[in-house]
Amino acid sequence: MAAMMSQLLVVLYTGLCAGRGNRMTDETLPKPSLSAWPSWIMPPKSNVTLQCHTSTNDVNFALRKGNVPVEFPQSPDSTEGMARFLLTDLQASSSGLYTCEYYRRDPPQRSSQPSDILLLLVTGEFSKPSLQAHQRGVVTARENVTLQCQRPNNSFESVKFALLKAGAAEPIRVQGPAKKKMNFSLRSVTVSDAGNYSCVYFLMRAPFWASEPSNHLEITVKGTVELTLIVIFILLFILGVFLIYKYTQCGAAPNKMTKCSRSSKDPQEQRTSVQPGKESDGGSPVCVYLYVCRVCTFACCLCPCKHVYLSVHM
Ligand SMILES: *[C@@H]1O[C@H](CO)[C@@H](O)[C@H](O)[C@H]1NC(C)=O
Ligand SMILES: *[C@@H]1O[C@H](CO)[C@@H](O)[C@H](O)[C@H]1NC(C)=O
Ligand SMILES: *[C@@H]1O[C@H](CO)[C@@H](O)[C@H](O)[C@H]1NC(C)=O
Ligand SMILES: *[C@@H]1O[C@H](CO)[C@@H](O)[C@H](O)[C@H]1NC(C)=O
Ligand SMILES: *[C@@H]1O[C@H](CO)[C@@H](O)[C@H](O)[C@H]1NC(C)=O
Repeated sequence: MAAMMSQLLVVLYTGLCAGRGNRMTDETLPKPSLSAWPSWIMPPKSNVTLQCHTSTNDVNFALRKGNVPVEFPQSPDSTEGMARFLLTDLQASSSGLYTCEYYRRDPPQRSSQPSDILLLLVTGEFSKPSLQAHQRGVVTARENVTLQCQRPNNSFESVKFALLKAGAAEPIRVQGPAKKKMNFSLRSVTVSDAGNYSCVYFLMRAPFWASEPSNHLEITVKGTVELTLIVIFILLFILGVFLIYKYTQCGAAPNKMTKCSRSSKDPQEQRTSVQPGKESDGGSPVCVYLYVCRVCTFACCLCPCKHVYLSVHM
């Protein structure tokens, strides 16, 4: 019955075409451009707008699916040089190859060249594929990442695969044909490649059915900016330690340096060494260095190490 109906439609359409055949194509009217907004791959029950655009003024637009004109209850929202065809409540049957054309309002109504073909896909007709990354978890910037999209079922028919990214309306890659699986390789990834990816596969001929999207696969990219910051931080830390070491002069007077016991965990001040700093002419005060180490760690001189001058009267 359905087949008969479609045959009937084809016959009717052929008749229509013959009827309209008088409307010639005007070679001087350049072809318009046709684009889908937000995307040419859409979930079922959503809406899509097909925009037909030309630089010629005072024209009417027409949309075709395959060879069949698409009828709209209202004339399309058409402004100067542009028509927006709104397709609502998308079903699998909306998938297909679309073109648009325009013709002058004044007779003779010659139509333009048809636009390039636009493929519209409505997802959800086949069960979803799986998407896997060969590098698990976090990847580092400038690495190459391979995402593999695999059909759930072995099938003889070749399909195309599209890689989708959450937040990007359009697929970011379309590859194929292939039967089972497809590798998408992201070369030298940057932080902007981080995100949630999914994939679909679709038939390359009518009825242009497309699968449900795969589960999301999250790719996290550890940026070189972060790595640079970590390296800078480590260098600053080393510089700081070095400056403290110099400033406290623990290393400046190695001969007077104290020997802190490594085993000592006593954080209290510890008198570690007393040495005369200067020979004295009897009676005058003698300067004595007193080295104090507050916390004796594995590297005594790195801790807040102080030397104190004492005046001792002999
Ligand atoms: C699709 O468009 C119709 C008519 O404009 C609107 O009522 C409906 O809410 C839209 N659906 C979605 C999912 O945007
Ligand atoms: C990434 O792939 C390109 C081209 O295949 C190759 O030249 C490059 O060495 C690869 N980079 C890494 C980090 O593997
Ligand atoms: C394989 O495909 C058939 C129909 O083509 C479907 O009924 C079946 O559930 C699929 N198997 C898997 C594992 O998806
Ligand atoms: C896809 O990538 C995997 C891992 O990088 C590799 O083993 C496999 O051969 C590739 N498949 C194809 C068809 O390139
Ligand atoms: C990916 O999706 C998960 C869960 O929906 C979300 O928590 C996460 O922020 C997303 N990642 C990115 C990079 O958008």
